[in-house]
Amino acid sequence: MVREIYVSGTAPRLTTDLTALEAVASTAMTPTARGYVVGDAGVGDTGRANREAFARHRLVPRVLRGAARRDTTVTLFGQRLAVPVLLAPTAAQTVVHPDGEPATTRAAADVGVPFVLSTGSSHSMEDVAAESGPQPRWFQLYWPADRAVAASLVHRAERSGYTAIVLTVDAPTFGYRPTDLDQGYLPFLHRAGIANFISDPVFRAALPPDADDRTVVQHWARVFANPTLTWDDLPWLRTVTSLPILLKGILHPDDARHALDLGVADGIIVSNHGGRQLDGTVAALDVLPAVRAAVGPDVPVLFDSGVRTGSDILKALALGADAILYGRPFLYGLALDGQRGVTHVLRCLLADLDLAMALTGCPTIGDITPDLLA
Ligand code: FNR
Ligand code: LAC
Repeated sequence: MVREIYVSGTAPRLTTDLTALEAVASTAMTPTARGYVVGDAGVGDTGRANREAFARHRLVPRVLRGAARRDTTVTLFGQRLAVPVLLAPTAAQTVVHPDGEPATTRAAADVGVPFVLSTGSSHSMEDVAAESGPQPRWFQLYWPADRAVAASLVHRAERSGYTAIVLTVDAPTFGYRPTDLDQGYLPFLHRAGIANFISDPVFRAALPPDADDRTVVQHWARVFANPTLTWDDLPWLRTVTSLPILLKGILHPDDARHALDLGVADGIIVSNHGGRQLDGTVAALDVLPAVRAAVGPDVPVLFDSGVRTGSDILKALALGADAILYGRPFLYGLALDGQRGVTHVLRCLLADLDLAMALTGCPTIGDITPDLLA
């Protein structure tokens, strides 16, 4: 991509500065979309801390190690990923662009980046699967209040080719989000992000066949969240599926350890939900080494919250992650130019990662080790 730009001598349609996208996209989004996507919980301390943590860590490159060719592949749960990057599950993508998740999925397929589809997608998981390429796709589960609906979602994900379940555990309820509250806006209540429920036979069975929108949304509101969920429920999920299960939203090493000791989790995702849930938490990056230490070297540990650039990916991997989830920036690409915008953002990120590997002397992902950090 970099060579293409220089050789063509023409400026790309969108900026290649992955941290500048937020400001550009903010002017393109509606106020409600901006509030939902860009906004943090509370006063934004956690959101800022996520970025500050990346700035605090510094890379110390090694030279002359012969990294003329880079291999970015990683293997997780026996699945080959072309890059140690997956698109983070983000709900209600039609809020930023009418093409929503299918456009994102086609872009991910274009560049070979695996993705995690949110339970709260605006298109059903089957429709999204139909658009996706050969790269792995995983399904993020918000465990609904009704176990039969939970099982139905998981079984549909299995049937439509999703190869891991990401159970998000840091959202028993939405965080306190002034940028949404001040506009009285929650996408789901406007029918964005509920497609997996509308299309679910078990969810529908509780409703009259001719239920109007209002009734459907009210039923969604009863079922979607499950604040009563505890560790005691998790073994049940293990009986429902044989797919790998990752717990997303872990910040405490003891929780990571407990998840493994229960025999439920196959992997951990260190995340504070991009600062959207509890404000005032530690930066996710700052707890990554402790979580890695708690689970040992062999358990897949993924990371998100504040990753923006190729150097950020190197830092997260050097601090113990096997792969990262990429969140808001691809939504900014989607907002700005639909599928093409997402493709652009991902190509920028992968070019940046590739160059960062070249410039640190890392021909493979395995070469990205803690001694790269100051
Ligand atoms: C999210 N995130 C999220 N996580 C999840 O498990 N299920 C979901 O449905 C959503 N929905 C969602 C919507 C939007 C608009 C955003 C921005 C985020 C959290 C997401 O997976 C990830 O943890 C964060 O996006 C990481 O932070 P950054 O790097 O994007 O700032
Ligand atoms: C969010 C939820 C849906 O962050 O995870 O908006």
